[in-house]
Amino acid sequence: MKLALLSFILASAINVIPQPLSVREDKGSFNLKGTPIACDAAMGEIALAAVKDFSANLTLAAGQIYPVSTPVGLSQTIKQGKVKGIVFGIDPTLKEEAYTINIDKSKCVVLASTDAGILYALQTLKQLLPSAIYSGKTAENEKWVLPCCEIKDTPRFRYRGMHLDCGRHFWSVAEVKKVLDMMATLKLNRFHWHLTEDQGWRAEIKAYPELTNIGAWRAETVIGYQPANPELKKDGIRYGGFYTQDEMRDVVAYAQKLGITVVPEIDLPGHMVAALASYPWLGCSGKSIEPGHEGEDYKVWEIWGVSPDVLCPGKDTTIEFLKTVLGELCDIFPGEYFHIGGDECPKDAWAQCPDCQARIAALGLKSDEHATAEQRLQNYVTSEMQAFLATRGKKIIGWDEILEGDLQEGATVMSWRGKTGGIEASKRGFDVIMTPDRWCYFDYNQCPDRGDESKPVWEAVDEPTCAWWGTLPLAKVYSFDPTEGLDKQAASHILGCQANVWTEYIPTEEQLEYMIMPRLFAMSEVQWSQLKNKDYDDFIRRVKAEGVKILKEKNFNYRAKDELAE
Ligand code: ACM
Ligand code: ZN
Repeated sequence: MKLALLSFILASAINVIPQPLSVREDKGSFNLKGTPIACDAAMGEIALAAVKDFSANLTLAAGQIYPVSTPVGLSQTIKQGKVKGIVFGIDPTLKEEAYTINIDKSKCVVLASTDAGILYALQTLKQLLPSAIYSGKTAENEKWVLPCCEIKDTPRFRYRGMHLDCGRHFWSVAEVKKVLDMMATLKLNRFHWHLTEDQGWRAEIKAYPELTNIGAWRAETVIGYQPANPELKKDGIRYGGFYTQDEMRDVVAYAQKLGITVVPEIDLPGHMVAALASYPWLGCSGKSIEPGHEGEDYKVWEIWGVSPDVLCPGKDTTIEFLKTVLGELCDIFPGEYFHIGGDECPKDAWAQCPDCQARIAALGLKSDEHATAEQRLQNYVTSEMQAFLATRGKKIIGWDEILEGDLQEGATVMSWRGKTGGIEASKRGFDVIMTPDRWCYFDYNQCPDRGDESKPVWEAVDEPTCAWWGTLPLAKVYSFDPTEGLDKQAASHILGCQANVWTEYIPTEEQLEYMIMPRLFAMSEVQWSQLKNKDYDDFIRRVKAEGVKILKEKNFNYRAKDELAE
C-alpha cells in the first residue's frame, strides 16, 4: 500500500496503460502550441503514416496546424541534440518493439528501431496528452502540453493478442475496427479472428459459395442462458452475416496500420456444423448424429455447446476442401500464423464411419495409453493442414487438443483448458500462447463474486447477461502470469497470451464492449509490463485517471462497478 501511495505522489501526471518499463517524471511541461513535427525520412511507411495521423489528431483536437516534415538524416541531428518540436528518429540499438521518449521544455524526442516502436511511442504520447486527443473533436480549452519526462519501454511478451468470436454472433467491420483501435491503444499486436463456427460461417470462400449462402445464416437462436432453458426454446429470428474477401482485406490493412497482425481461425475438424449444412458431403454419413436429430439433414446450429457433427477426415474430398479454403484465406492474411482450431471435436462419428476407419487402417493408427486411434486421426488432419500451410509460408496455431496423440514439430499450442496444456507443450519444446479460461475468458462474468450461492448462477449474478458459469473479475485477469512456475527453458517457449471473447451470450455491441472493458486494460499489463512493475492499486489508479477517460472519449462501453464505481 505504501508503495502504491508513493507511486501516486511520484507519477500522478503520467498514467500510461500498460505500465512502461521505466518512467522518470521531471518538472515542467512542453507547450505544443505551434510546434513543428518531424519524422526521419528513413522511417518506414507505417510509422510515417501513423505520425501523420497523430499530427492530424492533434491539429483537430488542439485547433492548430502541425504539418509533418521528413528531413533526411534527422536521427543524426537528434543525436547531436540540435532539434526542436516533436521529432521521431531511428535508434538501431533499441530492441524490436522498444521505444524511448524524452520530453523537456523545448522538445519531445521519440526514438525506436522499428515502425512498431514508433507506433507504441505514439500511443504513449496520446496517453500523456489531454484525453480529448481521442475524441475526434476540437478541444481548444484543454492544456495542450506534454509533461517533461523520460520513458523507456519495451514489451515483456511478443505475442499480445485478443480473440473475437464472430461465429456465434456476427460483428460488423465497423465494430471490428473499433475493437482493433482499442487493442492498438493498449499496444496489443495480434487479432485472433475466429471466423467459423457451428452457428455461422463468416468468411467468403469463392470456391465454395454455399458456405456463406447457407452457412452464414441460422434460422433462429436459442433464447437466453441455455442451461436455464432446458426445452431449448428459440426466438424464430433468422440471424447471420459474413465478411466478403474485400472486407477481410480491408480489416487486415486497417490492422496493419495499427501494428496489429490478424491471425485468422478456421476451426477444424470440429465446430463445423455450418459447413456441413452447406456441403453435407463433408460429413461421415451426410446426416446428423446429434441426439434427438439422428438421420436428419444438417442445419446451421441454433443452440450452444459442442456438436457431435464434425468433418469426415476419411474422405480425400474433405481434405481437398480444407486446403482450398485455407489457400484462399492465405492470399488475404499475410501473417506468419494460421489458426486451425482443433478444439472440442467429438470422435463418435469417426468411430462408426467406414471411410474414417479405412483411413485409420491405411495410416496404421493405433489406440494406446496415450491416445485413441481416432485422436490420432485428428493428428492426421492437423499435420495435413500444417504441411499445406507450410507450403504457403505459414505456421499453425491450434487449441491445446492438438497436443493429444502426436503433434508435429513447429506447431504452436494455444492453452485454453487451464494452463496444463501450455505447460506440457512448452516442456515438450512447442511454442505456446497462454489463454487459460480462468484468467483469459472474457465471456465469463466480471462480478467479483457470483452472489447468492443458493440460487442458480444465471439468477445470482449481477450482470446484464448470463455468461457461462465462471466469474473472471478484473483483479484476477491482472494477477495472471503466463510463465508462472516454468523453468527458463520452458518459459522461453511462451510467446505471450491473449484474451478470448466467445460470444454465445454477447448479442450486442454494447455488451461486447462491456465484456472487454475494463478487463483488456488488465490483460495489456499482463502482456506488456514487466512483472516487477505490476501493482494492482497503481493500475486501478491509472485506469481511473486515464483509462476511463479513454473509454468515454472513444464511446467504448465498460463495467463501471467495483473498483471503478463512480
Ligand atoms: C474453446 O474455448 N473451445 C477453445
Ligand atoms: Zn468419416
